[in-house]
Amino acid sequence: MKVILTGCAGFIGFHLTKKYLDMNFTVIGVDNLNNYYSKKLKKDRLKQLLKHKKNKNFIFCKTSIDNYKSLKKIFIKYKPRIVINLAAQAGVRHSLKKPLDYVKSNLVGFSNILILSKEFNIKHLIYASTSSVYGNSTKNILTESDNVDHPIQFYAATKRSNELMAHAFSSLYKLPTTGLRFFTVYGPWGRPDMALFLFTKNILNKKPIHVFNNGNHIRDFTYVDDIIDGIYKITKKNFINKTKNNDPSESFCPFRILNIGNNKPVPLMKYIKVLESELGIKSNKIYKPLQKGDIKKTNASIKKIKNLYKYNPNTEIKKGIKSFVNWYRKYYSV
Ligand SMILES: NC(=O)c1ccc[n+]([C@@H]2O[C@H](COP(=O)([O-])OP(=O)(O)OC[C@H]3O[C@@H](n4cnc5c(N)ncnc54)[C@H](O)[C@@H]3O)[C@@H](O)[C@H]2O)c1
Repeated sequence: MKVILTGCAGFIGFHLTKKYLDMNFTVIGVDNLNNYYSKKLKKDRLKQLLKHKKNKNFIFCKTSIDNYKSLKKIFIKYKPRIVINLAAQAGVRHSLKKPLDYVKSNLVGFSNILILSKEFNIKHLIYASTSSVYGNSTKNILTESDNVDHPIQFYAATKRSNELMAHAFSSLYKLPTTGLRFFTVYGPWGRPDMALFLFTKNILNKKPIHVFNNGNHIRDFTYVDDIIDGIYKITKKNFINKTKNNDPSESFCPFRILNIGNNKPVPLMKYIKVLESELGIKSNKIYKPLQKGDIKKTNASIKKIKNLYKYNPNTEIKKGIKSFVNWYRKYYSV
């Protein structure tokens, strides 16, 4: 199996590339190594991939997906069967300051991915969406068929746009597409702008941690290995179109949206407690109000992905946080 995987030097992309190499796939990894966060961390992830025992099956292309010409050259040269698009400008808070970064990677970049996937007759385009599309939903459990027309920040708006753009291509050209709504992914080699990383760093440096929404957030934290297992199962199966008229996340065309979460929401304060116990240090907390654009509670319905792909997340937060902390301590020699 030959795949183009964009965002391969990113957190999820790195783990997914490793899994594909373990399973004998050929991976054409694309990433522009931008400086949204530590370039060194991205390069170190790449170094790990280049050390993999199947490293001959990994080809890295330093390219921006918003550069149509150079992306096209990669499609021409490698003729992939499947495309996984994880490259994006991520992060809710950055989108309040720099919305144009999201236009470039998430809108222009994703348009290029769609156009080339159509042009090269890709068998399945799998791309990252986000739980943030659910906005201020007050529902206890978030389901793919929920109305998601009211994003509360620009990052979510661009990701929701990706879903709509994909629908147009699935409908017009019968391009099979699956959009994955990720729910707060965490684990080793994680993202420095996300809560677990920031908390760990500050606690170890004896600095206070900022707890937004006065600690009342609830998140469906999902361990990265569970996510990778889910994406791998989706990649392995051919796209089968099962039309369900009452579900707008399915369609008459080969289009699908799937939540990929844990379905075990955890209060942020409990998450912090588990982290403190793993670090053996009590944190000094500064409570802050809800940040603009932040969602208060997430809890994924994972019925659909379970039924279709036997997705079965089973990592408890205690175990997941432990493996993150072990990695962090080793990587930063703390
Ligand atoms: N981690 C999460 O909890 C989470 C939650 C919801 C959605 N997502 C989505 O999942 C995907 C992967 O997330 P992640 O946490 O691994 O983020 P990440 O920032 O670690 O990875 C994204 C990678 O894409 C690269 N990139 C960004 N713009 C690019 C461009 N224009 N061209 C080429 N490469 C580019 C970056 O350099 C980075 O290495 C993203 O699309 C993100 O929006 C992640």
